[in-house]
Amino acid sequence: MVSDLHTLPKIVPAPNGPLYLINDSTQVVANIEDANGQPIKAVMKVALCRCGGSKNKPLCDGTHAALKFSSKNDDTDGSVPPDKRKNYAGKNGITVHDNRRICSHSAECLRNLESVFRLDELPWINPDGGEVPKIIETVRKCPSGALSYSIDGVEYRDDKTRAPKVIVSKNGPYHVTDGIELAGVENWAEGASKEHYALCRCGASKNKPFCDGMHLRIKFTDSLKIDE
Ligand code: SF4
Ligand code: FES
Repeated sequence: MVSDLHTLPKIVPAPNGPLYLINDSTQVVANIEDANGQPIKAVMKVALCRCGGSKNKPLCDGTHAALKFSSKNDDTDGSVPPDKRKNYAGKNGITVHDNRRICSHSAECLRNLESVFRLDELPWINPDGGEVPKIIETVRKCPSGALSYSIDGVEYRDDKTRAPKVIVSKNGPYHVTDGIELAGVENWAEGASKEHYALCRCGASKNKPFCDGMHLRIKFTDSLKIDE
């Protein structure tokens, strides 16, 4: 069920600091789990590292201060994809929507349906390359919200069957589900889902707090220790 965006839990990004995951302080809830699907701990409030330097990932250990981590986005080299949602209409009735700005490069789409999501061909999405149910299944696995789809003009973007969770992906971003409120954030991409999204935890994204795939380029790993 999609939670009311004005109720807890919510995520509060601290300027130049961690992401605070705040739960209802009257209840113990276990809505954080590791990449193996195991609960990390039942907590009421937790500070999650987003500078990439904590020696106690995914938890913040204060290293952001020593690193002088900045949560500001710097796109002076123009490498951030434009905030533009593109539509790929198939003859089979499905239109796949895609906004490259928020792709976290998890490659779920390429791995699951390479006849539709094509690494080396243009257009990179070919909705006629696969069966509609398989396209739907694949789009629903997109953790960042970059992909969504419409059938007969009706858009399906949010998964209403998931629990509110922050999943710490292996060597990658935080995958958030079920509309956990992201407080004070305004740079939502065009067409982005607020039900599920990927948050940077390597510190290198140029579209913070969202992941933009930079963790791959900097070879971020959970064990990465950044010199102070
Ligand atoms: S985030 Fe979505 S669009 Fe980007 S590679 Fe993963 S599944 Fe594909
Ligand atoms: S986790 Fe930082 S860019 Fe993906």
